[in-house]
Amino acid sequence: MSTFLGFDIGTSSIKALLVDEKQNIVAEANIPVSISRPYPLWSEQDPEEWWQACLAAVASLRQTSPSGFQQLKAIGLSGQQHGAVFLDGEGRVLRPAILWNDGRSGLEGRELGASVPNFLARASNLPMAGFTAPKVLWVRKHEPEVFKATRKVLLPKDYIRFRLSGAYVAEMSDAGGTLWHDVAGRKWDDILLAASGIDRSYVADLVEGSDPSAMVSDTLSREWGLTPGSVTIAGGAGDNAAAAVGIGAVSAGQGILSMGTSGVIFGVTDRVIAKPERGLHSMCHALPGRWHGMSVMLSAASALSWYAEIIGASGDIGGLIRDVEAFAKDTTRQRNAPIFLPYLTGERTPHNDPEASSMFAGLRAEHDRVSMAYAVMEGVSFCMADGFDVMQEAGADLKSCFLVGGGARSEFWGQMLADIIRFPLDLPAGAETGGAIGAARLGMLAAKIGTEAEICTRPAVKRRFEPNAALESLYAPRLKRFRALYAAERQTRLG
Ligand code: XUL
Repeated sequence: MSTFLGFDIGTSSIKALLVDEKQNIVAEANIPVSISRPYPLWSEQDPEEWWQACLAAVASLRQTSPSGFQQLKAIGLSGQQHGAVFLDGEGRVLRPAILWNDGRSGLEGRELGASVPNFLARASNLPMAGFTAPKVLWVRKHEPEVFKATRKVLLPKDYIRFRLSGAYVAEMSDAGGTLWHDVAGRKWDDILLAASGIDRSYVADLVEGSDPSAMVSDTLSREWGLTPGSVTIAGGAGDNAAAAVGIGAVSAGQGILSMGTSGVIFGVTDRVIAKPERGLHSMCHALPGRWHGMSVMLSAASALSWYAEIIGASGDIGGLIRDVEAFAKDTTRQRNAPIFLPYLTGERTPHNDPEASSMFAGLRAEHDRVSMAYAVMEGVSFCMADGFDVMQEAGADLKSCFLVGGGARSEFWGQMLADIIRFPLDLPAGAETGGAIGAARLGMLAAKIGTEAEICTRPAVKRRFEPNAALESLYAPRLKRFRALYAAERQTRLG
């Protein structure tokens, strides 16, 4: 038997999943990591904490299944996208990593866009604060000594690869999230790199996600009781592309709607589709010859966790959702519920507005914790509707869409999402979902133990949420109000 390890470098935890050749789970571990928000709009993590969590996860896997771990043949990496890890010439971390949901570099994004003729056509993406390049420009401007010492800028999972192997390698699916990538040509773009004051020596070499990228170092192999030179590390993928591989969304028209900390609609394409002016993310898929379009909202399931925490219900979010479900049996109550804008950490698609903020509107004396929780779930779904519209306008031409992520655990929310985006959503049956399984699959592909068709299978559909057309008259006016509230808030803020 051989085993394969998928690492997912998430924002709230590091997940490690060990599977055998048939993708049965041999062992898994989840190690929480902390996030630091020292100033408004900032969001940072310590790359050393990711690495220590990876080591702790491996220790746990080895304890759960010593023999399974000894059969390890390949590792795949998945991780939060866009984060900037600044390294000096010795590979030392120079400052905390600036994360995907950090909004400090909106101005630098605008400056970047203005500095390159045809920026949108070159980068296929809008220069949003969440992407990597504006973060580098921010550091160059505000921390010149850090910029001066910087020799490499790595994405989060590529930093973990460096710690595993000593090699600097990146891959196609995550590269588009830097704004230095020629997405159609699947290579770095020197003009875009130069616009951030860097060149190719600052970025890692590119491979396809399913190709081998490096080997686990001899020192680490010995520490882990493995034969040196025996464990391949696959290119891997950004967490969204990895989750797509993990659920078999590998051909044009197949999509996933992911309700995690962020909310993502991801659609596989066989060409680049772009709509940068509406904040669509356009990147390569983790498999050769394919691309994806992606709508990203920054606070999805996390908006409900935030609200639950405030009302002291975080210990029983399931109970809160059941109360909301009972509340929503009465459409009069729904019609009169408050409206919530979930822009707790700004927004990307379609607004590209890192300073967008949240609000409850339309509160009245009769409203309570449940009607407000309803508004939160509905507001997140409205954002997804905005994202879905952008995807379809860009020509993603989705034929099917799996619903995944923590927020997908509620069937009530799944149905609400289908009703509001007006597209059927499929709940996968019993399968492991998320970045880690996709990463493990990419490890299997890199180790060449089977074909893509054999490895990247699709789970059965446990339940299809069909949109209920009768509810359009309920949601359409509320969605209109939701959009108008954002427009008015933006207008008052920006003048
Ligand atoms: C995608 C994005 C998020 C992170 C979450 O553009 O920023 O989905 O990848 O980990």
